[in-house]
Amino acid sequence: MSTNLYARAQRFAKEAVKADDEGKFVEAKNLYLKAAEVLLEMKKFTSNPRLVDTYERSAKGYIARAKALKSQIKKKVPPGKGGKSDDDDELDDSIEDAIVSERPDINLSDVAGLEDAKTALREAIVLPLLRPDLFTGSRQPWRGILLHGPPGCGKTLIAKATAGDVDDATFFNISAATLVSKWLGESEKLVKKLYEIAKEKQPSIIFIDEVDSLTQSRGEGENDAMRRVKTQLLSSMEGLSSGKGDRVVTIGATNVPWDIDSAFRRRFQRRIYVSLPNHEARAIIFKLNSEGIAMDEDIDFKGLSDMTEGYSGSDIANVCKEAVMAPIRELDQTDLINDTSVSARPVRHQDYLNALENVNKSVSTKELIRFERWDDEFGAG
Ligand SMILES: Nc1ncnc2c1ncn2[C@@H]1O[C@H](COP(=O)(O)OP(=O)(O)OP(=O)(O)O)[C@@H](O)[C@H]1O
Ligand SMILES: [Mg+2]
Repeated sequence: MSTNLYARAQRFAKEAVKADDEGKFVEAKNLYLKAAEVLLEMKKFTSNPRLVDTYERSAKGYIARAKALKSQIKKKVPPGKGGKSDDDDELDDSIEDAIVSERPDINLSDVAGLEDAKTALREAIVLPLLRPDLFTGSRQPWRGILLHGPPGCGKTLIAKATAGDVDDATFFNISAATLVSKWLGESEKLVKKLYEIAKEKQPSIIFIDEVDSLTQSRGEGENDAMRRVKTQLLSSMEGLSSGKGDRVVTIGATNVPWDIDSAFRRRFQRRIYVSLPNHEARAIIFKLNSEGIAMDEDIDFKGLSDMTEGYSGSDIANVCKEAVMAPIRELDQTDLINDTSVSARPVRHQDYLNALENVNKSVSTKELIRFERWDDEFGAG
């Protein structure tokens, strides 16, 4: 069911982007809205909060683009080609709204395991931003860092945590998927402006999540607008690496590293593998995701960790979500609502075991091998 819907949403979105690109704004607006509608429909078919979030975000992006087109249609001016100063102001506002985000209130100690990745990020980002005096002459910090690895293993988490560790850095957080869906047509301007602002407000960290969506559709599906964003991003990143004193670093994240074309790969000189959690990290992830709830003393996180070899961090988070709901599910909902004195029992070890039966690991061994191969071939740097 949902795969069907997904194909529909993709088709509408693709057609919308095409129409947008060709200047058929009315048609594009309607198609964006259709894509958004299907995405919102899809929310009903999943209880996975990350999927819900993704659908919602994409839908919002399409709706915003449809709105922008609508107001342009009224003015009969194609977006991006109107009066210059108005446009620039609007773009500035958009950047403030869409990109400049609060510094995340997590730091690297909230990330379980991944010691190598943490060390690499400290060396590549935290140190150069905090101690620029150490990075002079030929000792130059990396300007582009790529986090790659299987889905749900903490790439987004660790990027945000790194930003949380650098107190006085400005953090720009942009999803490449939003960039191409929401801003297509103006996105290359947005990228250019983004790097200008980042330079003004340095030290800065620019985090581009799902960076593969910019490079994925090589050849056939690739349209002009997309190519222009890509080119702009490449040249903005390049511009930075030539300005020696600048303290602006770009972090990209992807779970399909093989889709990153070689031009981009070259800009991300440091490539860090964010792997599945090891035994110790899994136990910590269990604990982190079970905090603040009444628990039996017999819960054995180490034992649960033994049973979840191959699970990703987000798989474990899902197990915990299930387990901690168990005491609530046993109770009558009407009672719970009407009588506030009815309370739930503590969570037991057995609740986790039951949850484990329902949540399987999401990364297959075959996929894992592909990630490790890519890391062998292109990793580190
Ligand atoms: N090492 C970890 N420590 C703590 N929590 C983790 C870790 N890895 C994953 N998680 C949990 O899984 C969730 C998903 O992780 P995250 O979104 O960072 O994955 P990702 O690697 O960016 O995945 P994707 O490739 O799908 O974007 C986190 O919000 C967190 O709850
Ligand atoms: Mg992510």
